[in-house]
Amino acid sequence: MKTQITELFGIEHPIIQGGMHYVGFAELAAAVSNAGGLGIITGLTQGTPEKLDAEIKKCQELTDKPFGVNLTFLPSLTPPDYPGLIEVIINNGVKVVETAGRNPAVYMPAMKDAGIKVIHKCTSVRHSIKAQDIGCDAVSVDGFECGGHPGEDDIPNFILLPRAADELDIPFVASGGMADARSLIAAMALGAEGMNMGTRFIATQDAPVHQNVKEAIVNASELDTRLIMRSLTNTERVLNNPAVESLMAKEKAYGDELKFEDIIDEVAGVYPKVMMDGEPEAGAWSCGMVAGLVSDIPTVKELIDRIMAEAEEIVASKLQKAI
Ligand SMILES: Cc1cc2nc3c(=O)[nH]c(=O)nc-3n(C[C@H](O)[C@H](O)[C@H](O)COP(=O)(O)O)c2cc1C
Repeated sequence: MKTQITELFGIEHPIIQGGMHYVGFAELAAAVSNAGGLGIITGLTQGTPEKLDAEIKKCQELTDKPFGVNLTFLPSLTPPDYPGLIEVIINNGVKVVETAGRNPAVYMPAMKDAGIKVIHKCTSVRHSIKAQDIGCDAVSVDGFECGGHPGEDDIPNFILLPRAADELDIPFVASGGMADARSLIAAMALGAEGMNMGTRFIATQDAPVHQNVKEAIVNASELDTRLIMRSLTNTERVLNNPAVESLMAKEKAYGDELKFEDIIDEVAGVYPKVMMDGEPEAGAWSCGMVAGLVSDIPTVKELIDRIMAEAEEIVASKLQKAI
């Protein structure tokens, strides 16, 4: 399939794997890229330029196809060494960066000078326009359904994507709630040039996370995610579990007085315990409503091949026959 996104990134299929904390390691990124999509290493999971350098080199040994690095810009008193992380991305010849969180404007000149294509992930039309204005090459439009941080507007993709299509000149992919060929074709009908998946890629054989996490996603339905940290204006969609219920009980009890320190036990240091040690109930971790559409644990290649074959089938037998 040829779209503006496959052309922009030099990939075969318009499918991107979004950066995911403690999931987006070299193994997953390379598997996605080898299958014809765009794999993304999560920069902040590595944390330091030295570690990111090693992870990029590992990925380059596993694939000769294009892959990217996610840089999530978080508000922080002690921010990561973003200039150092960008330097190793540039020095290793990585040509795609997925930015997320705060506006990446200050880092744009360095990335553009190095010939890097920047795709900014954001959850609103106004932030998508801002991304276009600061020189991003594409946007990943992340709807309310998404795993992770859906923002505070709560606009689902059936509205958000056509709104983005109406306003943007640069290409965008649909993110949030994407799982299969139906998602891809629907997203393209709504104006996207491809799709970005997070949760779906965790439940694959290539995702270097504990089997318990993959099974937790397979066993979850679309009813099993919760929104937390709304009163901190840092809303996150997570998989429900006893720790999340305890966190939500505190949110209810403290109301607008809630502080991050009140819920630190349920959110801090959770990802290595969940993803590496296989304790999905260790705390709150991001998961999309799309878990309700995930019922198997294929290889990444099987997943992407299936999506592309079924996408052709939808167009050829369903859509073409309908007109
Ligand atoms: C476990 C997990 C961790 C994530 N970590 C990050 C992250 O560190 N940075 C980021 O930009 N997005 C992160 N995301 C969001 C994904 O990149 C993607 O935008 C989102 O999962 C799309 O929604 P979906 O899960 O419905 O496919 C994470 C998502 C999940 C499920």
